[in-house]
Amino acid sequence: MKRRAFGSKAVFPVGFGCMSFGGFYGPTSEADTLRALERALEIGVDFWDTANVYGDGVSESMIGKFLAEDRSRRARITLATKFAIRRTPDGKREHDNSAAHMREALEASLKRLGVDGVDLYYVHRVDTRIPIEDTVGELARHVEAGRIGAIGLSEVAPDTLRRAHAVHPIAAVQSEYSLWTRGPELGLIQACAETGATFVAFSPVGRGAFGGRLQDVETFKDFFRHANPRFEALNWRRNRARLEPFFALAKSWNVAPAALAIAWTLAKAPHIVPIPGTRTAEHLEECAAATGFDLDAARLAQLERVLPLGFAAGERYSDAQWAGIEKY
Ligand SMILES: NC(=O)c1ccc[n+]([C@@H]2O[C@H](COP(=O)([O-])OP(=O)(O)OC[C@H]3O[C@@H](n4cnc5c(N)ncnc54)[C@H](OP(=O)(O)O)[C@@H]3O)[C@@H](O)[C@H]2O)c1
Repeated sequence: MKRRAFGSKAVFPVGFGCMSFGGFYGPTSEADTLRALERALEIGVDFWDTANVYGDGVSESMIGKFLAEDRSRRARITLATKFAIRRTPDGKREHDNSAAHMREALEASLKRLGVDGVDLYYVHRVDTRIPIEDTVGELARHVEAGRIGAIGLSEVAPDTLRRAHAVHPIAAVQSEYSLWTRGPELGLIQACAETGATFVAFSPVGRGAFGGRLQDVETFKDFFRHANPRFEALNWRRNRARLEPFFALAKSWNVAPAALAIAWTLAKAPHIVPIPGTRTAEHLEECAAATGFDLDAARLAQLERVLPLGFAAGERYSDAQWAGIEKY
């Protein structure tokens, strides 16, 4: 499969979501993380996604450690991180797009990553107190200073993207997109095509649901899925049952279910780059293999008959998890 456009560059069609390095979906080890990063480089997965909040800096620090082992590695990857989510002194989560926080967060991220600049810097959540035009104007100053290569937005509505793009080109927009989360088809994927932004599909494995290895809710060793409607006991039982024909289809096509779910995102539009997250080199390899699976029109239709629009039980986020996400 051909590489996909990211601004004036091109990246491997499947990226690497590094949120799991911070223990988001269960425990992991430094050795496993470094091995997964090494494998990513070996097989050419070169579009890496992290954020300052993933594991409170652990994800960025792991990448920093990996890059420090061999300085030639930096030039081989397109590195993205994010800012805006932070804890107030009394422990509440807030979204801060102020110039001061942006500068402070960027400096801290560059330090943890051990780099002079990142290729892509996302506004992780839009701050409703500050117009997006002002936030992007401020980010543009960091582009001019060479600390960031390009600007990205996360979980925004199409209107926000258009307003931001009028101030400075937006290279990428990320939002959850998978067989069970198809909201971006209502305008965001189209707005990205119109403005020239890469649409970065996060959680393309349905936060593990399409991987075929998740069993009972009780076995989930993480705080996120315990608090998420789709993995809540009754919903998850229904979702598991609804996924069975999908797993059978993947088996009959001789493709790993995670790879099939990722191949679906790749087939939906040429400007989509999915970023699956994993803790292991083996799973990453399986995800990257999506690029070698030919999901032609007939198969795509068959897949969408097996998992039709709106098949999932439960919303993609709980009330608390929806905070800061622009609905449209
Ligand atoms: N902007 C945002 O607000 C936002 C929000 C969420 C995520 N993201 C980004 O998107 C990335 C991906 O999203 P995500 O990690 O939430 O969800 P995901 O990629 O849909 O799923 C991750 C889960 O799938 C499992 N998995 C991955 N490959 C597998 C395979 N081949 N077989 C079986 N299971 C597999 C992983 O377990 P193992 O670790 O055991 O492989 C993990 O539990 C994140 O890392 C992050 O960079 C951004």
